[in-house]
Amino acid sequence: RPGQNHHPAGPSTPPSSPPTQSLSVQRQLYERDFPLYKQPVEVGHFSLDSERRFFNDARQLRYYVEPEKSCPNFDLRDGYRGRFVKRDDRVKEKLDHILRWILANRSKLQSKDTAASSSPCALGVDIVTWRGHLTKLLTTPYETREGWLLAVTRMGGTLYISEVETEAARRDRENRTERHEEMMYWGYKFEQYTCADDAQSLPDPGGVVNTNEAFCTVVQTRLAEHRLLFSGEVDCRDKDPKAPSPPANYIEMKTSLEISTPKQRSNFYRFKLLKWWAQSFLPGVPRIVAGFRDHDGVVVSVETYHISKISQLIKNETNCWKPTVCMNFCCEFLSFVKSVVTEDNPRVVHLFSWDPHRDVTYSIHSDSQYSFLPDCSDHAVVS
Ligand code: A3P
Ligand code: MG
Ligand code: MG
Repeated sequence: RPGQNHHPAGPSTPPSSPPTQSLSVQRQLYERDFPLYKQPVEVGHFSLDSERRFFNDARQLRYYVEPEKSCPNFDLRDGYRGRFVKRDDRVKEKLDHILRWILANRSKLQSKDTAASSSPCALGVDIVTWRGHLTKLLTTPYETREGWLLAVTRMGGTLYISEVETEAARRDRENRTERHEEMMYWGYKFEQYTCADDAQSLPDPGGVVNTNEAFCTVVQTRLAEHRLLFSGEVDCRDKDPKAPSPPANYIEMKTSLEISTPKQRSNFYRFKLLKWWAQSFLPGVPRIVAGFRDHDGVVVSVETYHISKISQLIKNETNCWKPTVCMNFCCEFLSFVKSVVTEDNPRVVHLFSWDPHRDVTYSIHSDSQYSFLPDCSDHAVVS
């Protein structure tokens, strides 16, 4: 079996043949028609408060307030020392918040087509994961720097996918420069300048930035034959009460260095817009509001990007990314995972591993440090 390779778009594997050992990430293999991606539907949401406690409601959802001037001069450094509570990123939450949401909202998932489905499973979905993990899959064919590790367990017929921090990522996290630490704050500070707690009030730039706080949407959709349930953090919503229903009223906030040279523009299109597009396209968030800042963290302009227009925007860029490659690769990875992870057992983890310029491979672990699902057999998720 070694050397066998999962061939994207090849003839379908007969059920009796052994699973293949690796998956190629080469872009040209994925340049074909855009796969079916159903309009994501919000099936619920949850909030994490200032102490990272879970609430099955929208208490942390904020409302976008458009800056008064096109050149707002927001100082993103303000409050870094003194009005900043940083989430402890050494704590690995795995899928815990999503599992908690599922336990509290099982009835909403008993979809009509579950009984009729050819592959019935307890939840009526094939894949449960974080949106951020799917974003990493979408961008993999274009990623040259950072690899990933994804732990996968099958339980009740559903595949749960949870990221594991790579050694390189841990080293980077433990060795961030003071400048980098501060710059990670700037994105959250921009949100504070532009988001209010309710539709009637104004942002409070004098308050504390606490990155434990989050509002997360839970969406259901389908990528080709894969029924997906995933959650992702949402920065804010349109405050107009007549705005469309979620996720169409959600807005993603971003910051980026101001663009002053053709080279910077090209890099922005080729690298940053790829990540921005993948993150928001997945949950059906239609708009990004971007604050462009200078080297001192002062926002000098604000621009809106419509996700549906990004593929047009990048078309004239040479060596640019293609949405279809991203989606076809993700789809093929999920098929690969399904063919490999056949044992239904919360104590077994298949660890899928990818490094730039390599194929995706995997290893198998029983009762290991990688297990991430509760293993009591009477657990409500499977029963
Ligand atoms: P920017 O998006 O302006 O960079 P998100 O944009 O996903 O809502 O995340 C909010 C902010 O968290 C980011 O703002 C950035 O400051 C910080 N952040 C998110 N992911 C990060 C990462 N992988 N590394 C460093 N900072 C990150
Ligand atoms: Mg966010
Ligand atoms: Mg954001």
